[in-house]
Amino acid sequence: MVRSTIEEYAVKANFLAQRLAEYLAQNLGIKANYFQENCSPSSSSLRMNRYPPCPYPSMMFGIIPHTDTDFLTIVSQDQVGGLQLKRNGRWVSVKPNPKALVVNIGDFYQALSNGVYKSITHRVIANQETERYSAAYFYCPTYETVIESCSKPSLYKKFSFKEYREQIQKDVKATGDKVGLSRFLL
Ligand code: OGA
Ligand code: NI
Repeated sequence: MVRSTIEEYAVKANFLAQRLAEYLAQNLGIKANYFQENCSPSSSSLRMNRYPPCPYPSMMFGIIPHTDTDFLTIVSQDQVGGLQLKRNGRWVSVKPNPKALVVNIGDFYQALSNGVYKSITHRVIANQETERYSAAYFYCPTYETVIESCSKPSLYKKFSFKEYREQIQKDVKATGDKVGLSRFLL
């Protein structure tokens, strides 16, 4: 993809992410302009993933199981497949459809919604023969934004994006895992 196409995609993904985030906020009593106030195009990011063929797919992940840190993620993928979601303790494969977008809830929406929306655990399985491409748009607030549950009693302590990120960096260093929201449970 050329640079201008990527930029155009990011602008559209940002627009869509904001609309979806606002739509999901409607039943929760979150202010209509919450996302506009706390997110900017430069606080979000687009990651282009390339998964090369892997000779030992049973020993290796494309991406290890994780939750995304953001409010929500918009994933566009090619026809190869490999993305799986954890549902009721089981891994479920997402049928690849290059014409569809996959939208995942991230940690920040789980905290903001006080657990009404769940940050989904997902992973990418490696493929022995075929390389795979995907693009993930991470809809994030600015670093200073303090994420606070929209209802009481709060399940989570309030935290800024900056604090959350610093905690992840510490945990990854110490344990190899980001740990995530459970660190902020009350
Ligand atoms: C990610 C991710 C999924 C995919 O980048 O966080 O989960 O299908 N990507 O590449
Ligand atoms: Ni992810």
